[in-house]
Amino acid sequence: MSQLKLSKEGWSNQTLFILAAVGSAVGLGNIWKFPYITGENGGGAFVLVYLACVLLIGIPVLLSEIALGRAGKANPVQAMANLAHENKASRLWFLLGLNGVLAGALILSFYTVIAGWGVAYFFESLLGTFNGIGKEAVGEHFSTMLASPMQLLFWHTVVSIITVYIVSKGVKSGLERAISFMMPGLLLILLVLLGYATTTGAFGQSFSFLFSPDFSKLSWQAVLTAMGHAFFTLSIGLGTMMVYGSYLSNKYSIVKAGVWIAFADTAVALLAGLIIFSIVFANGLEPGSGPGLLFQTLPIAFGQMTGGWFFGTLFFALVIMAALSSSISLIEPAVSWFDQNWGIKRKKAAWILGSLIWFIGIGTVLSFNEWSDVHFLGDRTFFDSVDFITANIMLPLGGLLMAVFVAWVVSPKDRAEYIDLNSRLMNWFVFDLKWIAPVAILTVFATNLVGADSVLLMILVSLAVYGVYVWNAMRKNG
Ligand code: PHE
Repeated sequence: MSQLKLSKEGWSNQTLFILAAVGSAVGLGNIWKFPYITGENGGGAFVLVYLACVLLIGIPVLLSEIALGRAGKANPVQAMANLAHENKASRLWFLLGLNGVLAGALILSFYTVIAGWGVAYFFESLLGTFNGIGKEAVGEHFSTMLASPMQLLFWHTVVSIITVYIVSKGVKSGLERAISFMMPGLLLILLVLLGYATTTGAFGQSFSFLFSPDFSKLSWQAVLTAMGHAFFTLSIGLGTMMVYGSYLSNKYSIVKAGVWIAFADTAVALLAGLIIFSIVFANGLEPGSGPGLLFQTLPIAFGQMTGGWFFGTLFFALVIMAALSSSISLIEPAVSWFDQNWGIKRKKAAWILGSLIWFIGIGTVLSFNEWSDVHFLGDRTFFDSVDFITANIMLPLGGLLMAVFVAWVVSPKDRAEYIDLNSRLMNWFVFDLKWIAPVAILTVFATNLVGADSVLLMILVSLAVYGVYVWNAMRKNG
């Protein structure tokens, strides 16, 4: 692949970049997925592992990814090709970009289905369906919706069309415009709901569920889930941050942006968790009830509280906005790749890709009804399989390779140019990218692959395999 610098259109300013990146990061991952996987995995210990992953792997990879995009100045596939060329590295690095483009498409295929539940609930809340509703009725309402493929397909289609429409308009008139009216309200409503959560009488219980770790409840599968979620929720490992970075001017600080993104994303997840578990415990519900958690618990609270109609409708409007500001970022890597490398103009590219992804999404629609007993990977449904392959494998693998690229391939001089860290922090950052993040990711992979008899052994094996790889690569490069 020849060297091309392609991303011409850019963000108007740094604040809009940060807003767009926070918009991408804060989404269903924070409001829907984080609470339900935390519930399934027993709470505190899981949260602690997730936070450690954000700190030790997430933030360094986030900074690397934005930097790679900005330096490569193109969609993820081309950006990696550009950078490999500049650094005289293997041409195969473009595959890292391709892994991302594919992962984004796969994630979007189920993301629009789940976001569709949010849209359905928005309208139902608006029409007063949840007024005074009891907990059995809410549960039944949710199962009835899931049982209907047509209903799910309809909402999946609605969300897909809105996503494609926004993206087809381009960076400034599409992405920026959507973001700047969607993002600001989110925090406000979360705070209002947090206020409500403190009045439920179960706030303390919720707090200790989230923050007092009980490691006996933690499995290696849960550690993999926590790590995968750190990638998913920060939107890293697949090229979203890379393509957003490619639209960022060189005069802005990547570190400042990265810290804001990670902070906002983590804060929203923890607040959402506190709110939801307060409601769960106050109503004697099960924290481990899976993907339906958000849709079976919040409506109960909205049905009972004063002003619930108003808050409920507003809340689901915000779920929709959080989801849309993420869904547009999931398709953007693929759209810009089509546009820049294949000469298919953005508008056409968005509609073609959107249709393909919509089609794959039908598998997720059916996972909750017709195909609920059809298993793909192990005992996973289609939806669970796509979620597992992307979040737990493709994203961590993408992140691992980004870390390796920035730490081992890019020269120290270029690195200092890409990322504005002082020399002490830079040393830490490079050490983390060279050793901690890759070995941690490999260890979690290896432990899940062969079982968890001896984690120490797995760390040593991962370190050895990785060390040999690095040594070999260094020797070849003289
Ligand atoms: N971070 C988004 C969320 O938490 C999902 C996402 C993943 C978006 C990867 C873009 C890229 O919902």
